[in-house]
Amino acid sequence: MADGRTDEGAPTAATGTGSNIDPRVDEWSRRGLTGTARSGMYEPTRDPDDVSRAPNPEDDENPPRWRADFPIDWPKDELVARRDFAKFLVLTSGAFVVGQGWIAAQHLVRKNRILPATRKIGSLSDIPIGGVKEFAFPTEHDPCLLVRLSREEVVAFSQSCTHLSCAVVPKVDEGVFLCPCHEGYFDIRTGKNIAGPPPRPLPRIVLRLEGDDVLAVGIEERMV
Ligand code: FES
Repeated sequence: MADGRTDEGAPTAATGTGSNIDPRVDEWSRRGLTGTARSGMYEPTRDPDDVSRAPNPEDDENPPRWRADFPIDWPKDELVARRDFAKFLVLTSGAFVVGQGWIAAQHLVRKNRILPATRKIGSLSDIPIGGVKEFAFPTEHDPCLLVRLSREEVVAFSQSCTHLSCAVVPKVDEGVFLCPCHEGYFDIRTGKNIAGPPPRPLPRIVLRLEGDDVLAVGIEERMV
């Protein structure tokens, strides 16, 4: 039509020549709205501050003073963060792999450990009910404690606390072994860690009674 409208009465996309009005703004669906927009307002724009150069004393004689404190540009900042994240992932994964390897090695060592030789601890008749006897097993450097709980029942455990290896002290009346270093407690009957920092029970010494003789025949390490 002559006035620049379509048959439905909508204006055509662009009227006049040399207009600075963006044709997408001057369309029928915006009829009644006022205002104009510069042409190309929908084109992607770039903030000049988004991308800048790191200070380079050789070709930039007067870099702004703030550049010294903020030498990394926004785009590079993202790259640095990504690199740090990748480094973190690699290190963490490596630590997991090493940890798993260490656990597997410990398992193998324990599995292949030679059973200690049977050793006589003492005679039952020499240990009164509620009495405690110190001994070493499986080597002279592994102190242990034997406790006679009743006429029939004797138990024995390693004396090394499972926290930081201090020597535990038997408190037969209270039914516990006390570790004085950090106030760790173990049940005297089971050796189970019941209070304080010790993470696992005391290793249990496997005993065998042969007549009046009390023999140590093995060690039972426990995780829980
Ligand atoms: S060494 Fe036994 S509680 Fe710490």
